[in-house]
Amino acid sequence: MFHYFRILLLLLAIFLPWTDSSSFLLLLPQDIAFDSTTRIALQSLRHSPEAVELYMHSLFPHHPQVTWNHTDYGTLTLVGNKGGHVLEQINQDRSFVFLSDTVNVSGVMDGHGPTGHSVAEYVRHELLRRIQQSLPEDNNNNVKQWLRDAFQQTDAAIPNEIAMQGGCTSSLVLQRGSQIYFANAGDSQSFLAAALLTEEKIHVQIMYETRLDKPNHPDESKRLQEAGAQVTQESEQDDGRVWATDPATGYTTGLAMSRVLGDRHHTAVIPDPLVEKIDLKEMKQRVLEEYKVYRTQQCKEVEINTDGSSIPCPPSQDPRAVYFFVVSATDGVMDSLKPIEIAQTLAGFLYGNNGHPFLGMEDILWRSTQLWQQQGQYRDDMAIAIAKTIQV
Ligand SMILES: *[C@@H]1O[C@H](CO)[C@@H](O)[C@H](O)[C@H]1NC(C)=O
Ligand SMILES: *[C@@H]1O[C@H](CO)[C@@H](O)[C@H](O)[C@H]1NC(C)=O
Repeated sequence: MFHYFRILLLLLAIFLPWTDSSSFLLLLPQDIAFDSTTRIALQSLRHSPEAVELYMHSLFPHHPQVTWNHTDYGTLTLVGNKGGHVLEQINQDRSFVFLSDTVNVSGVMDGHGPTGHSVAEYVRHELLRRIQQSLPEDNNNNVKQWLRDAFQQTDAAIPNEIAMQGGCTSSLVLQRGSQIYFANAGDSQSFLAAALLTEEKIHVQIMYETRLDKPNHPDESKRLQEAGAQVTQESEQDDGRVWATDPATGYTTGLAMSRVLGDRHHTAVIPDPLVEKIDLKEMKQRVLEEYKVYRTQQCKEVEINTDGSSIPCPPSQDPRAVYFFVVSATDGVMDSLKPIEIAQTLAGFLYGNNGHPFLGMEDILWRSTQLWQQQGQYRDDMAIAIAKTIQV
């Protein structure tokens, strides 16, 4: 009897963690060039898209049984070329897509400094842990304050060994139904794009993008100087920077950002993100209204009646649907491509016939690579994470 009881307890111990925690899916990025399985999976997706299910296991090695529709989101990376042998390159970018019953989160972290990749890894893990454990359940302004607190508390919790000689950006998008929250610290960026579909084409528009974080931004440079930091101006040769020396190690760095996690000796640099909340239903109204104005103008231009009466626009150009998606990317991508260029490419894969959305992300990373190569040997790490929103 006692024996059976022990077996029952053992079974409960094994199954309880699965049954009581809500299910979730965490996608981590694969490298499009240096992960050979991913390279082959992407090639196969391109050449025989009908067999897509076969390759999904290579693109989602952490989740052999993906249950959500995997054409709705994804993340990819490409390690940079930052001097030295190719095998010595360390990818300091992190990215992820996290889906659950209560919240969907996607984002990127970009590490810098000798321990930047460890900081980025720590921050990714710690922010997600906090989201899973203590994100408020209602959608009021609590979430915005909660996000600021989560960034601050995560920053404070980074172990000193790694936080003294490295830091990272963090750009997150939280989706809860039709409410979207952006939280951004540092020079990675996230944005919300709209895709309005007609019979003819996909009209793509950027509805919101996080503000690029620079020490020379008037608000930031004022705050930094008031906090006693030295800020140098942007020039042809260099970005504007905020300078600090760690008294213990004599380690001096000029940081081209005013908000990061880690970099503990940069006392004037803060981890607080700029936070924005967006209502998708309002955005949809705006997209439809702006499209109406656009069409009216377009129709006027093709007006040909001699009596001045207008010819109605062809009905096939009426909007069939409006969709939204979010993108986060590190500056390795954002320095070479504009949000609208990225969004237009992705829309062709997410809503058009260009192929699987992973190929759209791959396309963006290769295009950035080409633009880096035109400038010389150096290439920054790159990471991108995308997710469709719910339909409103
Ligand atoms: C996944 O979504 C695409 C469009 O977003 C749709 O065409 C496809 O049928 C969906 N697949 C599954 C398995 O739900
Ligand atoms: C998360 O994304 C999935 C798949 O796109 C969607 O079905 C679900 O409703 C989303 N969850 C939330 C909380 O927005």
